[in-house]
Amino acid sequence: MLDLLMKRRSIRKYEKRAVEPEKIEQIMKAALLAPSSKKSQPWEFVVVTEPELLKKLSQSREMGAAFVKEAPLAIVILADPAKSNVWVEDAAIAATLIQLEAEILGLGSCWIQVRNRSCDEVRSTEAVIHEMLKIPQHLHVASFIAMGYPAETKQPYSEDDLPENRVFVNRYGVGE
Ligand SMILES: Cc1cc2nc3c(=O)[nH]c(=O)nc-3n(C[C@H](O)[C@H](O)[C@H](O)COP(=O)(O)O)c2cc1C
Repeated sequence: MLDLLMKRRSIRKYEKRAVEPEKIEQIMKAALLAPSSKKSQPWEFVVVTEPELLKKLSQSREMGAAFVKEAPLAIVILADPAKSNVWVEDAAIAATLIQLEAEILGLGSCWIQVRNRSCDEVRSTEAVIHEMLKIPQHLHVASFIAMGYPAETKQPYSEDDLPENRVFVNRYGVGE
């Protein structure tokens, strides 16, 4: 697990080739295995492969998502607040598992934030995606994960990168 976590980096450049349906299925199994508060499973997912929709997803943010235009795949993470009052956490865990399963399958991925982000001065990213993907109003759009075969390499993390000063034992603060 630690090796996997050291290797995982946000990948924003992808090969043109499609991700095989079997791999998408594996990734969705990982998502559906995500733990959730009281096993509420408040999430739902939209697997996006159509180039036109991927282009529109790339335009759903003022900035920070332009590269999604070239991605062969994105998984949009939705959640129903009526099913869980901690749906934000539930959706974030599912997104994380999606990224880790993608990594194991040799894919590169990047999280794109949707909740609390805007498309332009009047429209939220969420509203734009709601309309684009015909998502029912009772579901929130938390994020989406863009992915594909990596066309860039990034240095894996090493032990030296770990901000170990963030960890305390028993009481907060530096030991005396
Ligand atoms: C909650 C969250 C929101 C993020 N939103 C975006 C985003 O909108 N666009 C983007 O390109 N990267 C986004 N990222 C990726 C982060 O920028 C990236 O994880 C961080 O810089 C660390 O780099 P690494 O993933 O290579 O370790 C997001 C990551 C998280 C966890």
